[in-house]
Amino acid sequence: MKNYEDNPFNPQFGKRPEQFIGRELLINDFLQSLATKNDPNRTTIITGIRGTGKTAILSDVHASLDTDRFAVIDVTAQDGMLLEILDGFIRNNKGKNWLGKRFDKMQGFSVGALGFSLGLTKRDDTAVHSFRFMLSDLLDELRAKDIKVVFLVDEVHNGTPEMREFAVSYQHLVREEYDVALLMAGLPSSVNDVLNDQVLTFLRRAHRVELENINVKAVEIAYEQAFAQVDRSFSGDSLRKAAAATKGYPYLIQLLGFYLFTSEKQTVSSRLVQQSLELAKIELFKNVHDLLYRDLSAKDREFLFAMTKDGAQSSFSSIKERLGVSPGYASKYRERLLMAGMIKAVAHGTLAFAPPYMREYLIAKEG
Ligand SMILES: Nc1ncnc2c1ncn2[C@@H]1O[C@H](COP(=O)(O)OP(=O)(O)OP(=O)(O)O)[C@@H](O)[C@H]1O
Ligand SMILES: [Mg+2]
Repeated sequence: MKNYEDNPFNPQFGKRPEQFIGRELLINDFLQSLATKNDPNRTTIITGIRGTGKTAILSDVHASLDTDRFAVIDVTAQDGMLLEILDGFIRNNKGKNWLGKRFDKMQGFSVGALGFSLGLTKRDDTAVHSFRFMLSDLLDELRAKDIKVVFLVDEVHNGTPEMREFAVSYQHLVREEYDVALLMAGLPSSVNDVLNDQVLTFLRRAHRVELENINVKAVEIAYEQAFAQVDRSFSGDSLRKAAAATKGYPYLIQLLGFYLFTSEKQTVSSRLVQQSLELAKIELFKNVHDLLYRDLSAKDREFLFAMTKDGAQSSFSSIKERLGVSPGYASKYRERLLMAGMIKAVAHGTLAFAPPYMREYLIAKEG
């Protein structure tokens, strides 16, 4: 019988999994920063390619915060985020009495009658105030009660004017010494755009964390414990093989764990690991690799296919020769592909594919 119900692995995007591995120190750094106003980690930007667990970190931070001492405002950077932020305060205030009487009747904020996207109005209030005004108003109330505010902003990019409006307002809050913190997450290319944005220069001083893959030994321990809890075990070196097969990539840790766990086998063998890995790769390719590949230009793909001719790593100069292009041209494509999270620099002049099994995926695609 397949075991779905008690499966501690969850290969879904956007949720903090029960088996959440290897991000303790990063999360601790941010949580510790909340104790001191000028701690540099208070404004942190996490970057990582799809499936590295950015959203899971934000969820974990959210769940770790004491709701009696913190107002946690959790949003995605998109049109409408400013209203969502203001509404977040009302939601946090439920059953708390942090905000003054004049906020009592308010169920939430609504877009002003003028329809101007940044002109917001409180319900029962005809005046239209700026977002920054409303935010300071709310924060004054919270400051009086000694409540800190943590903003969690996911999928950061500078494509929406509201993200800029928020960032500029946040900068003012910091300058005015409000007790606020900001944890943002986004894809490397999107965050790069934000950091190069002339309006948002102050974000360049934010603490930046590039998410790395999880240590494979930590995956091994997590796998062993998850199965031991239900009196199941691994035979021979199947545990080591399973952990190594994930390459420490968070999404694959969940996928492989999920397939291993749903199997009815009491003891996990190397053969089961191999079979489960094949199933996991089908999902991995569909939900990560296909999406990455779809967004590439023909030239990007040429560069990548030239890389597949090597083993695990390629030297930049040999790719350049293989393509028969100038150094400038090759550099441009290397930069594009680094930003897209397709490749990573592993040593000086040496490149490798970033997502696990990308080489295998591309070879199948070309063949
Ligand atoms: N530290 C972790 N340990 C184990 N699994 C993890 C960890 N972090 C995330 N995961 C799993 O990886 C998958 C992707 O996580 P998440 O949705 O947080 O990624 P993301 O970086 O936000 O991706 P996207 O760029 O698509 O938004 C999920 O299945 C999640 O359960
Ligand atoms: Mg995400």
